[in-house]
Amino acid sequence: MDSRINRRNFILSATALGGAAAIGGVLPRSARAQSGKLKVGLMLPYSGTYAQLGNAIENGFRLFLLERGGRLAGREVEIVKVDDESDPAKAPENTSRLIKRDKVDLLVGTVHTGVAMAMLKQSRETGTLHIIPNAGAGAATGALCAPNVFRTSFTNWQAIYPLGKHVYGKGQKTAVWITWKYGAGEEAGEGFKEGFVKAGGRILRELHLPFPQVEFQPLLTEIASIRPDAVVCFFAGAAGAKFIKDYAAAGLKNKIPLYSSFLTEGILDAVGNAAEGIETTAHYGDSLDMKKNDEFRLAYAKAFGSNADVFAVQGYDTAQLFAAGIEAVKGDVDDRKGIIAAMESAVIDSPRGVWTMSKAHNPIQDIYLRRVVGNENKVVGIAHKALADPALGCRMV
Ligand code: PHB
Repeated sequence: MDSRINRRNFILSATALGGAAAIGGVLPRSARAQSGKLKVGLMLPYSGTYAQLGNAIENGFRLFLLERGGRLAGREVEIVKVDDESDPAKAPENTSRLIKRDKVDLLVGTVHTGVAMAMLKQSRETGTLHIIPNAGAGAATGALCAPNVFRTSFTNWQAIYPLGKHVYGKGQKTAVWITWKYGAGEEAGEGFKEGFVKAGGRILRELHLPFPQVEFQPLLTEIASIRPDAVVCFFAGAAGAKFIKDYAAAGLKNKIPLYSSFLTEGILDAVGNAAEGIETTAHYGDSLDMKKNDEFRLAYAKAFGSNADVFAVQGYDTAQLFAAGIEAVKGDVDDRKGIIAAMESAVIDSPRGVWTMSKAHNPIQDIYLRRVVGNENKVVGIAHKALADPALGCRMV
């Protein structure tokens, strides 16, 4: 065990609970089943390249609770936090801490596909109710789907598959694909290629660097010498901001158009002009012209002093989904069947637009085409209406 991590996690937990006393006085799960506090474990990245994503998810989750006066089904919600550092090696211990020590009623996590896969192993083994608020690992709602595991975000395939057709449709017939070498980058690459090649496009080269490295320069030099019609990438968070700036500094911005899925989320204030015009596909856009989105963005900005993004929306919808489950059973966490049935049939009134769950527990949703205009991911079209992930190999038992 790493004592440094343990101490930090303990401090985070204590802060979230409002004091160490709250940690000691936890009732056994059975006694808490219908009364007392509902315990939610947030396992998210609060440090490293995805820190901003983790914070936005937590903020979104808390915003929904704030709207409900901090209670769901009449029960106060207590949050326990763990910084997963986007490190798969630390994931088994971090997950076990929330499930076995803290005995959470709901496990929420995480951003990074590799960490989410490790969490999934334990949530499946223990039957803990688990909502994935970002990580797009296809298997979580595919071959490893499970009744107690839900996702409120996307699959890595789903968010970017429609981009391939769009890029080819713009007359760009060749592309270089660049990403980190880990599950999400690989699955996003497969998704983009499927759409692009089906439309008639050709991938000239695939470039990788280890997660979470940001030494982009040699790869940008290579791209300049390959001279594709388009560059398509999967990066996100702080590294995404650096990639956008490095791409412009390498003189590529006005020569080869850059496309992605989440690249431009949550970082537009930091990158300024370098991001202008970049087109991306995702299941949300800042400018979505819907009453729910306007209200959400206003409330979020008031509560947290920053602009909402897709990750905040996913956090908000995670709380909404849990509310649908727990309210259907009047707060009785032992009524597992009732909770799961209500979550399966929930109609989520999201800032992204209304969505429902697929049989594999992944959102069926519109994928928007967005373009960066100023500091906004402006919606300029729908890249694919009501897209469901194929959920290959999912047998719900
Ligand atoms: C993932 O690891 O699944 C992941 C991370 C960040 C994103 C999207 C997907 O923006």
